[in-house]
Amino acid sequence: MNAAGPPQGALDRLTASPARETLPIGAKRRSSEPASAGADGTKGPGLGPEHDQRSTCSSKRGGPIVLGIDFGTSNSAAAFIDASGAMQVVPLDGARTEMPTAVFFNQETHSVLYGSEAMQAYLSGTEGRLLRSLKSLLGSSLMEEYTAVGDHSLRYFDIVVLFFKELKRRSEAHAGQTLTHAMLGRPVHFVDDNPERDALAQETLGRAAREAGFTDIAYQLEPIAAALDYEQRVDHETVALVVDIGGGTSDFTTIRLNPARSSLADRTGDILATTGVHIGGTDFDRLLNLSTVMPHLGYRHIGRGNRPVPNSVFLDLSTWHLIHQAYTRKAMHFAKELWADFSDRSLHQRLMAALEGQYGHRLLAEVEAAKIACSISGEDAVVQLDFLDDASAPAVTAEGMEHALRDAVAQVVRCAQDCVNLAGLSQVDVVYLTGGSSALRPLVAALQMAMPQAKLVTGNQFGGVAAGLAYAGSCA
Ligand SMILES: Nc1ncnc2c1ncn2[C@@H]1O[C@H](COP(=O)(O)OP(=O)(O)OP(=O)(O)O)[C@@H](O)[C@H]1O
Ligand SMILES: [Mg+2]
Repeated sequence: MNAAGPPQGALDRLTASPARETLPIGAKRRSSEPASAGADGTKGPGLGPEHDQRSTCSSKRGGPIVLGIDFGTSNSAAAFIDASGAMQVVPLDGARTEMPTAVFFNQETHSVLYGSEAMQAYLSGTEGRLLRSLKSLLGSSLMEEYTAVGDHSLRYFDIVVLFFKELKRRSEAHAGQTLTHAMLGRPVHFVDDNPERDALAQETLGRAAREAGFTDIAYQLEPIAAALDYEQRVDHETVALVVDIGGGTSDFTTIRLNPARSSLADRTGDILATTGVHIGGTDFDRLLNLSTVMPHLGYRHIGRGNRPVPNSVFLDLSTWHLIHQAYTRKAMHFAKELWADFSDRSLHQRLMAALEGQYGHRLLAEVEAAKIACSISGEDAVVQLDFLDDASAPAVTAEGMEHALRDAVAQVVRCAQDCVNLAGLSQVDVVYLTGGSSALRPLVAALQMAMPQAKLVTGNQFGGVAAGLAYAGSCA
């Protein structure tokens, strides 16, 4: 994993890629250097020969509405600035603005459900197939592979397109008009240490949005979008480390914020550094599942011949976007055969019950709920396993969480420090926290310890990036 800022290659791509956000990181574009528009018409915000570098966002008024889309690993959100100049964060999921990035193929009614409806249908035991963490597949070869959905199979890519279509439909219902322009958020690294796959991830994201019906697409880094949102609440010049810790990635920007400059189209000079690492809440879920629940199914069990039982099935069951791999015929056969390795057969029985009942997502959802509960209260949070015939009810405890997440939290904090150091600073005025996992108790404590002089400001946990993307879109 790469806890430092983007390597030089990544920086080059950030400035060179036509279909990429075009606010270069920590470096000013020379005014003579043209900003390229992609062959597919994509462009980045606020730069380019056709733009007056001193133009303000308000100059965009009267143009088409640009939908800021935060396609998140766990939750997605969308926002736009309406014709009157007011920010509209779209109520994508009933009254809620964050919509779980989840698709459920209901086999009982042969319908497709999205967001919390998808989660509810799955968790209530409806027959069907749930997909979560689709963003984690961007940049991987799995995206082009087909997966069994009821009686037929679908390409993972086409499932992402379905999700985008639904997000577009719900946003249009709120806006009362067709939306064709999108400002897509992207993490600093979709994929760590692999520029080709990282570029592929962005290209795939854009292609999915295009197939869903968006014709004009641009990109902005998620932490910069979060910073633009925070700037609306700042009343004097502030150097901030903007921290966006979501389900899949932790992204950071050190940025000079000033309300007097917030309407300028080009903020390149204010962005002092950007870093990111591919660690987020879904990794915390995986680590907690492995430390808390999987041992009840045989993980780390020392079986016959004094050998630990093979662990791949437990790793699949603990990784949101890989859970389904544990249910393939081959994997099930392998798991069944494991019985001979177990000296405690009740553990193997429980493992098979989890696989045969396809309870992987449910288990991980229970662990996630316990993580959040323990993080909020600091108290033990029980993980209910009664559906697995396990009366022991393991708990996520503050101590257990601190221990299981120690290395991951340390990597995230190192990446945050790198962002400040890359900016040539030893400290910042404010650490602005956004993204669901920025509330994780041990992480907040570690960040505060690493940056004792900075004031920690808790921001909009879920809608901030989409709002920032809408600001960026209005300036593009
Ligand atoms: N109070 C809390 N404490 C710890 N974690 C939390 C809390 N509330 C939510 N989370 C976690 O936050 C994550 C979701 O955050 P968010 O919606 O910001 O992510 P995302 O935008 O979908 O992901 P990414 O930006 O990485 O693609 C989940 O992993 C969830 O478990
Ligand atoms: Mg996010």
